Amino acid sequence: MPESTKSPQHGEPKRSLWLAKDRRSVVVLDQTRLPHRVATVTLRTLQDAARAISDMIVRGAPLIGVTAAYGMALAMAEDASDASLGRAYDVLIATRPTAVNLRWALDLMRAHLAPLPSAGRRDAAFLMAAEVAEEDVACNHALGLHGLNVLQRIARRRKGEPLRVLTHCNAGRLATVAWGTATAPMYLAHDHGIPIHVLVSETRPRNQGASLTAWELLDHGIPHTVVADNSAGHLLQRGLVDVVIVGADRVTRRGDVANKVGTYLKALAARAHGVPFHVALPTSTIDWTLEDGVRGIPIEQRSQREVTHVAGTDARGRVVEVRLTPEGSPARNDAFDVTPFGLVTGFITERGLCPATREGLRRLQPRGGSAGLARAARPRKLPATK
Ligand code: MRU
Repeated sequence: MPESTKSPQHGEPKRSLWLAKDRRSVVVLDQTRLPHRVATVTLRTLQDAARAISDMIVRGAPLIGVTAAYGMALAMAEDASDASLGRAYDVLIATRPTAVNLRWALDLMRAHLAPLPSAGRRDAAFLMAAEVAEEDVACNHALGLHGLNVLQRIARRRKGEPLRVLTHCNAGRLATVAWGTATAPMYLAHDHGIPIHVLVSETRPRNQGASLTAWELLDHGIPHTVVADNSAGHLLQRGLVDVVIVGADRVTRRGDVANKVGTYLKALAARAHGVPFHVALPTSTIDWTLEDGVRGIPIEQRSQREVTHVAGTDARGRVVEVRLTPEGSPARNDAFDVTPFGLVTGFITERGLCPATREGLRRLQPRGGSAGLARAARPRKLPATK
């Protein structure tokens, strides 16, 4: 298998993106082919990076940001002029609208590169993109440790029985460079010997839960069960879920959460049945410019085909796509929804836990605008797993 094979138990998490041996191209796992095939794609140009994001070869808010950072570096390797820098920003920002990590990473890269002479931009861009990638790994590990505390507390009530965690979409290692956001506390809990059972919501229409989260949990040996999206209310009502943890694509400064469509219904059901609903995110997912997420966060509209068709393997193991709906029935495909802050029990970030309030989040805000964000992106020394 071409990916890193080091196990997270030894503190070296598997990665979804890495620099190729030539140090001038980037290798990513092709997520459109999982779970049936493990394949990689090499990104050599700006257009390769843009296509990888818009076609969802890579996906998940943090990984979109890191891929975009490398997309800027690939653009600088082709042409390091001011015009090329501006064009690369415009091409990449247009790839997907909801995850704010894309804008965060592009702003960071542009602010770093624009003042440099063009001769120095290529090397500086690759170094900065690598820093953004390493920061992602460090942030997710740090937030995983904070999330581990949350899980440990809830697990005590289970008196040795497995802790039942419901998650939605894929906020796992495949959505990031490593560890994942929602899954980081789960990996760490499992590695620390806390019995855990993850309920994986399939996540129609693209099935990121069924295809990607299930694949990576299986790969790590974490007990899990794939459940139909529509069963979440029932499972919460019957007391079969101890805690819900999801990721986020954009969180506003008051705490509204855009995440994969279906998250909102889970938050409503969790609140109705008194089950804690946590959102795990790096602080680069917070959009400090927005207050009201329900009105302000752009919701990506994707192809009808994701709703009308589904892919899987046939009896011979060949990947086939089949139609689900009658020919001629139109479909609508809103890719995300917004959970209002009042339904969120708390945020799990690399800087600690905080309530889903404006005041709670403000304490996490880096000072000094985008320069502050650049400083905040510097890797810090983090505590070891064990
Ligand atoms: O459309 P996707 O697959 O990019 O959506 C991803 C999600 O909604 C994730 O849950 C979110 O990005 C959090 S990722 C750590």
